[in-house]
Amino acid sequence: MASDSQERRPRLRIDIITLFPEYFAFPLKVGPVRRAIEHGTLEVNLLDLRSFADSPKEVDDYPYGGGAGMVLKPEPIVRAIESVHTPESLVILFSPQGERLNHERVKDLAGRRHLILICGRYKGVDERVRRWVDLEISIGDYVLSGGEPAALVLLDAVARWLPDSLGDKDSALTDSFETGLLDAPLYTRPPEFRGLKVPEVLRSGNHAEIRRWRRKQALLRTLLRRPDLLETQPLSEEDQRLLQEALEEFQQASGEEPRPKEEGP
Ligand code: ADE
Repeated sequence: MASDSQERRPRLRIDIITLFPEYFAFPLKVGPVRRAIEHGTLEVNLLDLRSFADSPKEVDDYPYGGGAGMVLKPEPIVRAIESVHTPESLVILFSPQGERLNHERVKDLAGRRHLILICGRYKGVDERVRRWVDLEISIGDYVLSGGEPAALVLLDAVARWLPDSLGDKDSALTDSFETGLLDAPLYTRPPEFRGLKVPEVLRSGNHAEIRRWRRKQALLRTLLRRPDLLETQPLSEEDQRLLQEALEEFQQASGEEPRPKEEGP
């Protein structure tokens, strides 16, 4: 039998090293993150980087060799890491140079026991910090003013995979990317809004037809918006039939050849 202390241990502990602990105050109180914390499956600790510096002002300095912007000093960051590090820890640095965060990585991280997240700021962190880092993550090809928004993105996405974090227990399993397809369109009341009607099938009560319609729409959307997702998974014969049907309907309704959306701005 598990001892008391084992039972109370959260499934995942996340330590966040940041210059702005207050940044996280509200997001920890909403949605899946809040629920996972309340159910004890997730524990989040905020480590104020300044409290690991020799003085509160000594967290950053000018870059050797000159250039614009300040660099986060190595000593406070490494002290903060070492204050919580265990053999189960995975140390993650957020930076635009990291591996792009995706669905597979989120699931991998949700299965770990302890994550230590380092939020960079200013121009970046001293290169020597990377010796203590296991994984560098970027949330996209653009530059943020710090790693905090990236840490929130990761926290939210990971919390969805922890037990009891979702109101509707099945919804992480039916999310886009888990099914390999984008979601089908969603509708709620009213049945008609400014002349726009909810598709009849969704109001028919025929669950087999509804499932078929949703699958068809999900396939069509994925083909039009993210054809790359279809390249990695072979479609069943039934899916190929549905997609063909969807394309013909799309063509009839719009009078145009369906083609993938253009990429980029
Ligand atoms: N810090 C600055 N830009 C970032 C990005 N795109 N992803 C993660 N961390 C970052």
